[in-house]
Amino acid sequence: MSKKRIGILTSGGDCAGLNAAIRAVVLAADNKGWETVGILHSTAGLFEDPPHIRILRADDLDGTILRRGGTLLGTTNKGYPFAYPMPDGTTKDRSQELIDAYHKLGLHALVGIGGDGSFAILRRLAQQGGINLVGIPKTIDNDLGMTESSIGFDTAVTVATEALDRLQPTAASHDRVMILEVMGRDAGHIALATGIAGGADVILIPEIPYSIEGVAKKIKAVKDTGRNFALVVVSEAVKKPTGECLQIEHSGGEKRYGGIGAYLCAQITAATGSETRVTVLGHVQRGGAPTYSDRLIASAFGAKAVELIAAGKFDRLAVWRNREVVDVPIEDAIKSYQAVDVNSSLVHTARTLGISFGDVS
Ligand code: F6P
Repeated sequence: MSKKRIGILTSGGDCAGLNAAIRAVVLAADNKGWETVGILHSTAGLFEDPPHIRILRADDLDGTILRRGGTLLGTTNKGYPFAYPMPDGTTKDRSQELIDAYHKLGLHALVGIGGDGSFAILRRLAQQGGINLVGIPKTIDNDLGMTESSIGFDTAVTVATEALDRLQPTAASHDRVMILEVMGRDAGHIALATGIAGGADVILIPEIPYSIEGVAKKIKAVKDTGRNFALVVVSEAVKKPTGECLQIEHSGGEKRYGGIGAYLCAQITAATGSETRVTVLGHVQRGGAPTYSDRLIASAFGAKAVELIAAGKFDRLAVWRNREVVDVPIEDAIKSYQAVDVNSSLVHTARTLGISFGDVS
């Protein structure tokens, strides 16, 4: 096999396990005698002249990187290249600059580690500019189709479950209702998994309509059993029962979900008379050491990505299905967005365990 030079970038929000995936790609490529070029801060690194890159050598990625959160390459979830925001307030199609930089670097292929938004961009660039793209799925939201798990989800759920473990004793000490607001964007996977694993009484997810009365009924029922506390997990994208979406505006006018926990806190207090507190977990779910499971799938995805390149199979995504790492067309994964299936066995499990979704009765 001839010596190849491949590129790798992490795109979109970071999560735990990205470094494990980068390491796996570098080790697998090194095994074939190839060179790996790390592109810094996702596509932003390719806008620079010269491009911001770091040559990744197997020897440099010692045993510590596998355990570290974040991404050694940096990332961004801004700067849409087809309508790039310019300083004068206009937008400009800068996609060709990225394509030119890829070819200038002499890359044979590009490994993109991202979620559905990142892959929509990278795939369009690949098609426009003859980039040999291979993908690795990552997102704590676990909303990418065709894969049972994406890098970062397991760690996020583990962190959120530990938060419930810590909230339960303090809730019991003060006779309180504790609300935990978790991330997940438009999908309720983190809340559902955390609520079951952490013994919640109520789980609220965007996929299942709820009412304050439904939530209050469950909390009162818990109290009637003689238990003095209750645990509620809510996804950040859950709306007010009126349908109003709660968002927070950050720097640069960027809007993100946030505020449903505080809203529910006031509503639950009013409806049940219970002393109620809210914890918003936020980016804690993305940082820290990856769980074994995230390291495992990240390693498998990284090795698979290099195999795909060696086989000349491009526009493919490494995915986890039926205990195996296999590959599917990137397009299929993007198209099949995966929200929580309200008829899934996990929703059924929660209901069987007596967990309420605050259903509108
Ligand atoms: O998609 C990952 C995610 O963490 C979502 O769960 C969350 O809504 C969003 O990103 C937060 O984005 P940012 O890091 O830009 O605040």
